[in-house]
Amino acid sequence: MRTASEIREEFLKYFAEKGHQRIRSGSLIPENDPTLLFTNAGMNQFKDVFLGLEKRNYQRAVSSQQCMRVSGKHNDLATVGRTARHHTFFEMLGNFSFGDYFKKEAIRYAWELCTQIYSIPADRLTITVYEQDDEAFQLWKDDIGIPLERIVRMGKEENFWSMGPTGPCGPCSELHYDMGASPAGHPHCTVECDCGRFVEIWNLVFMQFNRDVSQEKKLLAAPSIDTGMGLERLSCVLQGVSSNYDTDLFRPIINEVCQQIGVTYGQNEEKDISLRILADHSRACTFLINNGIAPGNEGRGYVLRKIMRRAIRHGKILGLQDPFVHTLTTLVAELMQDAYPKLLETREYVAKVVKQEEENFSTTLVHGTELLDELCHAKSENEILPGKDLFRLYDTYGFPFDLAKEMVSERGLRVDEEGFYAEMEKQRARARASWKGGEKKIKPIYTKLAQENLTTEFTGYAKTTKVSGRILAIVAGEKQSLKLTEGKTGQVIFDQTPFYARAGGQVADQGVLSNSTTEALVEDVHEPISGLRLHQVKVVRGSLQENDVVSMDISLTKRNHTSCNHTATHLLHAALREVLGEHVKQAGSLVDPNRVRFDFTHYTSVSSHELSQIEELVNRQIRKNIRIETETRDLDEATQEGAMALFSEKYQQQVRVVKIPGFSMELCGGTHATHTGSIALFKIIHEGSVSAGIRRLEALTGKHALDRFLDGEILIGRMSEELKVQRDDLFPTLEKLTHEMKKTTRQLAQLQLQLAQKESKTVLKEIHEIEGIQVIAKKVSNLDRTSLRQLADELKNQMSSGVVVLGTSADDKVNLTVTVTSDLTDRISAKDLIQEIAPLVNGGGGGKADIAEAGGKNPAGLDKALKRTYSVLEKLLAK
Ligand code: SER
Repeated sequence: MRTASEIREEFLKYFAEKGHQRIRSGSLIPENDPTLLFTNAGMNQFKDVFLGLEKRNYQRAVSSQQCMRVSGKHNDLATVGRTARHHTFFEMLGNFSFGDYFKKEAIRYAWELCTQIYSIPADRLTITVYEQDDEAFQLWKDDIGIPLERIVRMGKEENFWSMGPTGPCGPCSELHYDMGASPAGHPHCTVECDCGRFVEIWNLVFMQFNRDVSQEKKLLAAPSIDTGMGLERLSCVLQGVSSNYDTDLFRPIINEVCQQIGVTYGQNEEKDISLRILADHSRACTFLINNGIAPGNEGRGYVLRKIMRRAIRHGKILGLQDPFVHTLTTLVAELMQDAYPKLLETREYVAKVVKQEEENFSTTLVHGTELLDELCHAKSENEILPGKDLFRLYDTYGFPFDLAKEMVSERGLRVDEEGFYAEMEKQRARARASWKGGEKKIKPIYTKLAQENLTTEFTGYAKTTKVSGRILAIVAGEKQSLKLTEGKTGQVIFDQTPFYARAGGQVADQGVLSNSTTEALVEDVHEPISGLRLHQVKVVRGSLQENDVVSMDISLTKRNHTSCNHTATHLLHAALREVLGEHVKQAGSLVDPNRVRFDFTHYTSVSSHELSQIEELVNRQIRKNIRIETETRDLDEATQEGAMALFSEKYQQQVRVVKIPGFSMELCGGTHATHTGSIALFKIIHEGSVSAGIRRLEALTGKHALDRFLDGEILIGRMSEELKVQRDDLFPTLEKLTHEMKKTTRQLAQLQLQLAQKESKTVLKEIHEIEGIQVIAKKVSNLDRTSLRQLADELKNQMSSGVVVLGTSADDKVNLTVTVTSDLTDRISAKDLIQEIAPLVNGGGGGKADIAEAGGKNPAGLDKALKRTYSVLEKLLAK
C-alpha cells in the first residue's frame, strides 16, 4: 500500500520532472488577501501571479498546500465527522501554469498521472466538463479517448470555479472516481448524484478571467492552469478504503483514541462520529497553531477555539475526562513530519497551547453549568428556556449548545432551538460584516500601475545616499498625475531607490528628494503589491514631474538606529530559542529607530531570571562585535540549513539570508547593522501577553538603553536620599519597611475588630422585630469592608436567629453588608434583600442566601436604604 506521504511525493516528483518548480506550502494565513479567512486552495499563494500583478522566475509550479475550509456551501463544521469526506484541515495537491501550457497539457498530465503512475483503472474515472467548454470535451474524447458516456457536461454551479466573489476564475473539468457502489443504495447512480458513489478527486481549472467588483469577467492576459486534488481523497482511492478516515492520515489518530478509551472503531456510529471529529480536529488544531494562530475570541483565533472545544467536548462524550487532545497533536506532528518537518519543532508548544485551552474549558464547563442551573431554577416543568439566554451561554462562556440542550432536558425543561439559531445567525452576520481581513483592499490605481510593470530597483542595502532616481509615475489621491506641485502630497514611483519600504515589521526610511529647483520630504514608503514601491512625499519647494531625476537621501541617523534594532531582534529571537526552547517562533515585530517590539510563541510568562539570561546572551553577542553576513540563497536550501522563516510570510524561491555567524540565521529582507557591536547595549523593558500562547517583549538598544540605565541611576540616588541609606542598604531597608507596614496593618485590623465587638453591644440594643424575626438595620462608622463583615458576623452569632444589615460610608463611598442566620435563609435571602436596598445608595452587589455585600456611591441614601430593609422584609415575610 502506498502511504499518503508517498502519494504526495509522487505527485510533486511527477510535475517536477515535467519542468514545474516545487514550491512549498504557503501559510494557512493568506498573505495580503483581505477576502480570505484561511488559505483554502493551492492557488491562493499564486493569486497575484495569475492576475499578472506579480512576476516569478518560473512559469510552472507544483505544490502540496495546507488548507482549511470551515464554512461554505459544502463545508460546515457541523458536517465534519458525519461523512466520509468532510474535513476542516486538508492538503491540496496542485500543478500550476502561469501563461505557459493550457488545457491540452493539463488534461494529458492529469490523465497520465492518474492512470500510469497511480495506476487507477481508466474505466473507474468519469470526467465532467463545463457545459459550454467544447474544447475540453473534445480533448477528453479525442486526445485521451474517453468514451462519450463517461464525459458529462455540467453547469456553472459544478464546473465553473472561482476563488471568491472577485478574483481569478474559469471553467473547470473534474475527474471523478467510481467507488463501485452507492453508499445510499441507489441502483443507478451517475456522476451527478452526490450519494458518495462518485468521488471528485481532481479539479482542473482553466483560469481565463478576472472577475471584478462589478462582477464583470475580464480576460486574463495569459490563460493559465490551476489544479487541485485533495490528498485525503486520493489516498482513500489509492489505499482501497471507502472513507478518508480509513487512510493512514487519520486511522493512527483514531486508533490512539480507541486504545485510550478501550473501544473499537466501527461498532457504534455515534462513537465513530466523535472519533472522526477528534481525528480531524486534532489535525486542524496542530496546523493552525503551528501557523502562529492562537485561540481567541474573534477571527481566526475564534475558529481555532471553536474547533478545539468541539474536540474536547467529543472526547468527553467518549469518556475522556482529563486533558487529552494535546496528546493527539503530538501524534499529528509525528505523522505529518515528512512534509512539514517544522511540526516537530513546535510540537511541544502546540501541545501546551491546546492543554491550556483544555484546562480553561473545564472551568468554563463548571461556570456554564452554574449559570444554566440559575436559568433553569425559576422555571417550571416543560417550560421553554429562551434561545437568547442559551445563546449567551454559548457565546460568552463557550458552553456547547448540544450539552446545554441535554442538561436542560434532564431538568424537565425545553429549549427554544429556533431562537438559539436565530441569535447564532445574527452573530454570524455581525462577524461577516466585521471581518475585514488583515490588510486593506488594494486600490485600483495600484493594480493598474503594477500591470504596467513599474518596478523599482532597491539600492538601499549597500548604497544609501546620493542615489539618483528617475520618476516613473506619480499618484495624487486615487489617480495618476503628471506633476506634484509645491505644498502637495502624493505617491511617487522611481526607477531605483535607497528608501526601505515598510515590511517585515521594520518601518520605512524617511528622507529628502532634491534637485536644484525642488525639495520634497519622503514621509513613508510602502509596497501594496510586490515590486510596486510607493514613496509618500510632500513637496516643500518647486515641483516633481514624471521623468524628473532627483537626488534621494535617506535620514541616516534614523536608518542606523532602525538597522541596529532590527539586528537586535534577530539576536533576541535566537536568544529566546536558546533560553526558552525551540518552540519559540517570531509571531510579529515592530522595529523603528526608538525601540524593538517582539511577539513570539510561548505558553507562560517569561520569568525575570529568564529575562536576565536572555539579555545577557544578547549583550554577549554585541560585545563580540560579530560581522553580519547577508546573501541570496535558494529558499529550500536555506531552510534546510536551519534559517528561521516566519509563520505567515510569503517567500520567493530566492531569499535573502541574514546571518550572525555562530548565533543566528534568518530569512529577512530588512536592513541590518554591519557588526553586532553597533547595537552597543540591549535592555528588555517590558514582558507581557498578547493572546493565549503569544508573549510580547519590548526592548531598547544603544543610546536609548543607556538613557534608561542612567535614569535608573538617578532614581536609585533619589531613593537613597529619601530613605537616607546607602545604595547597598536600599533593598534591606525596603524589606524592613514592608515588613513593618504589614505588621502595622495587622495591628490595625485587630484594633478594628475590637472596636467592632464593642460596637456590637450598642447595636444589639436596637433590635426590631418583624413577623417574630429579629432584625438589625444600622449605620456604623469608621469600619472598612472587612471589619463591617466581621461586625455583621459577630452580631449574627450573638443573635442566634435573625437578619443583620449594616452600612457604612466614607469618602463618597458606601458599603452594605447583609447576613441572615441559616435557619431563615429559605424564607429570606441576603442576596435578594441587598438587591432591593442597594439601588438607594446608587450601588449594586450580590452574594448568597446567608451573606451578601454591595458597594454604592451615594452616602446620602444610606439612611433610606437601611429603613427600606424593614419594609422589604415585611413584604418578603408576608408572602
Ligand atoms: N482552485 C481549485 C479548487 O480549489 C483547483 O485547485 O478546487
